[in-house]
Amino acid sequence: MCHVQLRTLIFVAWVLGYVAFLLSFKRMWTGKHIRSPLVRSLFMSMVTEGEAGTADQLEWYRCCPDLLGESVRPLFVQSHMDTDTKAFLKHSQEKSGWLFTQLYHSLVSTVLSPMVSRTSINGFLGRGSMFVFSADQFQQLLRIGPDWEANRLLDLGAGDGGVTEVMGVHFKQVYATEVSPPMKWHLQRRNYTLLGIDEWQHTGFQYDVISCLNLLDRCDDPLHLLRDIRSSLVPKTGRLVLAAVLPFQPYIEVGGKWERPKEHLKIAGKTWEEQVTNLCSEVFKRAGFELEAVTRLPYLCEGDMYNDYYVLDDAVFVLKASEDTGDSPQ
Ligand SMILES: C[S@@+](CC[C@H](N)C(=O)[O-])C[C@H]1O[C@@H](n2cnc3c(N)ncnc32)[C@H](O)[C@@H]1O
Ligand SMILES: *[C@@H]1O[C@H](CO)[C@@H](O)[C@H](O)[C@H]1NC(C)=O
Repeated sequence: MCHVQLRTLIFVAWVLGYVAFLLSFKRMWTGKHIRSPLVRSLFMSMVTEGEAGTADQLEWYRCCPDLLGESVRPLFVQSHMDTDTKAFLKHSQEKSGWLFTQLYHSLVSTVLSPMVSRTSINGFLGRGSMFVFSADQFQQLLRIGPDWEANRLLDLGAGDGGVTEVMGVHFKQVYATEVSPPMKWHLQRRNYTLLGIDEWQHTGFQYDVISCLNLLDRCDDPLHLLRDIRSSLVPKTGRLVLAAVLPFQPYIEVGGKWERPKEHLKIAGKTWEEQVTNLCSEVFKRAGFELEAVTRLPYLCEGDMYNDYYVLDDAVFVLKASEDTGDSPQ
């Protein structure tokens, strides 16, 4: 009898010790220590405890209009932290504390990461959901009301469809593209029509809105993509909603590895404002687009064992096709 109790005691002590170890590990990694240099360059980690968090959250939306180019300045839209954004952060924080779920995620991710892309691992585990804008922020940017409706939305590189859903309520038909198989599965479950990455340009119809959110730095030929988008929009009223993570660091996922894309977009400027200006006056102009609105938003990603959430710096643009076709049509 005594023997059995001792064994139970040792087991309980062992479990407690292990949990304590993991918790201290989590604390250690929250903040400035991020594992790989690539992840460090891609993700700025945030500590959410205490008041420092609130001050940092103000920074997420801050823009210095004087640093924007003259043509961009009047089109800047100021966004703010709102209830949907807060709700996403709160849920993400809670989820990061589910110890056993996080342990399981961490184990699967370690085993799969040499072979499978991070996107697909996240899709498979149903973690790493993203947040770009709330319904209110989307409507403000497009200057539409909550009841506005149009026919077709195409979301390129839609991920798990979380962001698609925010936009999708305004459209009769929602189309999406993805390359990652688990993400495709998520999109199908949400009843979105999946199109191939060489199919959406040739369907015989055009789209009222095409969204290309955080994809430009993940594809092989971004200028070609922009030209395809331009010719697939409904003439005159069609709009492109484009989000780009700044500073712009193009990398594409090939299996478990990250590689440089074939066609490398160069964006000049050091600050967020300079890069936004450069994107508008060089890249978008060359592809035949004209700016209608731009805002600064945090691109939020659900956390893991080590961080409550991750945040990147996004610039979100609303663009329309300009009258002239840009440099050269092809
Ligand atoms: C950074 S995620 C962005 C997801 C979502 N749009 C968002 O803003 O949260 C980029 C997604 O694009 C997908 N992707 C990469 N290359 C693509 C391509 N050529 N066509 C369509 N999707 C692509 C990836 O699988 C990944 O899910
Ligand atoms: C998808 O469509 C099916 C069949 O029309 C329907 O039963 C189901 O509820 C839909 N799912 C969602 C998430 O809307």
